[in-house]
Amino acid sequence: MFLGVVLEWLSEQGGPWPLHACLEAADMWTTANGDGVSPADFDKVLYVLKNIARDWSAEFQAERDASYGRIVDSMLEYAKRRDHKQGVSRKVGADHDGRASDARMQVLVPGCGLGRLCLDLVEHGFDVSGNEHSYFMLLMSAFILNGTVEENQWMIFPWMLNSSNSWRLKDQLRPCSFPDRLPCDMTSRPGSGVLGMIAGDFCEVFGPESGNAETYDAVITCFFLDTAHNVIEYMEIIWDLLVEGGVWIHLGPLQWHWADAHTYLGAEEMSVEVGFDAVVEIAKKIGFVFRPGEDEEEVESDVPSGISDSKDAAGADRMRVPYMSNSPSMRPQEYDCAMFRCYKKN
Ligand SMILES: C[S@@+](CC[C@H](N)C(=O)[O-])C[C@H]1O[C@@H](n2cnc3c(N)ncnc32)[C@H](O)[C@@H]1O
Repeated sequence: MFLGVVLEWLSEQGGPWPLHACLEAADMWTTANGDGVSPADFDKVLYVLKNIARDWSAEFQAERDASYGRIVDSMLEYAKRRDHKQGVSRKVGADHDGRASDARMQVLVPGCGLGRLCLDLVEHGFDVSGNEHSYFMLLMSAFILNGTVEENQWMIFPWMLNSSNSWRLKDQLRPCSFPDRLPCDMTSRPGSGVLGMIAGDFCEVFGPESGNAETYDAVITCFFLDTAHNVIEYMEIIWDLLVEGGVWIHLGPLQWHWADAHTYLGAEEMSVEVGFDAVVEIAKKIGFVFRPGEDEEEVESDVPSGISDSKDAAGADRMRVPYMSNSPSMRPQEYDCAMFRCYKKN
């Protein structure tokens, strides 16, 4: 029923929503395969429902604090430090002191899913562009961001079909209400930044031919870097997108999403899979500086102190971070994530 409401809302909007392309794709599939939904699309819908829980339900606040919260803190600390170095006297973040638009930092969040991290940053005074390539995510985020009018207006049951590892039926059948915050409240507070959404594949939309070089003060990759076919390409694009002195904040595991793609998409399907040490080495070769303070008088760490659980041997911050974790189940999902902040310094 809820999905029916979403489709109805989308079809009423007209404009830029890519619903017609999805409906055409669905018609083509039906013509070729008969009625019903392809198993792959069914899985994608279930994935979107779980993403709704992750991004927009009160139940997942602690999960969001562990990733989005750390990133927002790191961004606020970076912004304060940069302002201090540049002699700019303005307050960042919680004060919401209404900065002029030309004083706000421009932030890009590729692979932004259903947009909650973008909104959290907007609420703290940053202008944010989210980027996402999945129609499933784009259509649902369009609905949540523009079509919800009350907190906890909707109820879904994202774990209902997760019959494995359930301690109790009532956990499996538990409802999830959303949104816990109204997106329009988050964008309209005094001092909030501006949100934009850019649809399309990150490499196509932001690659060298895109004309987006030196546009962003910060690029934030949260559970995104490992979606790359070729992580070197992602990192080179991030470098190009940043202004001089800009920051790349990364948090996530390295569960290379295309690692098995040759088994179902063909042998030529590219996937570059490297360890975290190599990611850091490649970033340094591209030109990113991890600890700019070492070349200067004052030594600064990658991320603000207290944000991580521990450091790995190379000094990167390490932390346990849940991801779409069905916590009452026998198999909650958590990663030992790396987080770093590095800078474009020529
Ligand atoms: C693992 S999810 C993480 C989503 C969100 N950042 C979070 O932390 O919940 C990765 C997201 O990146 C999107 N994505 C993957 N490859 C992409 C690409 N090449 N361009 C844009 N988005 C992409 C996926 O559709 C998905 O929404």
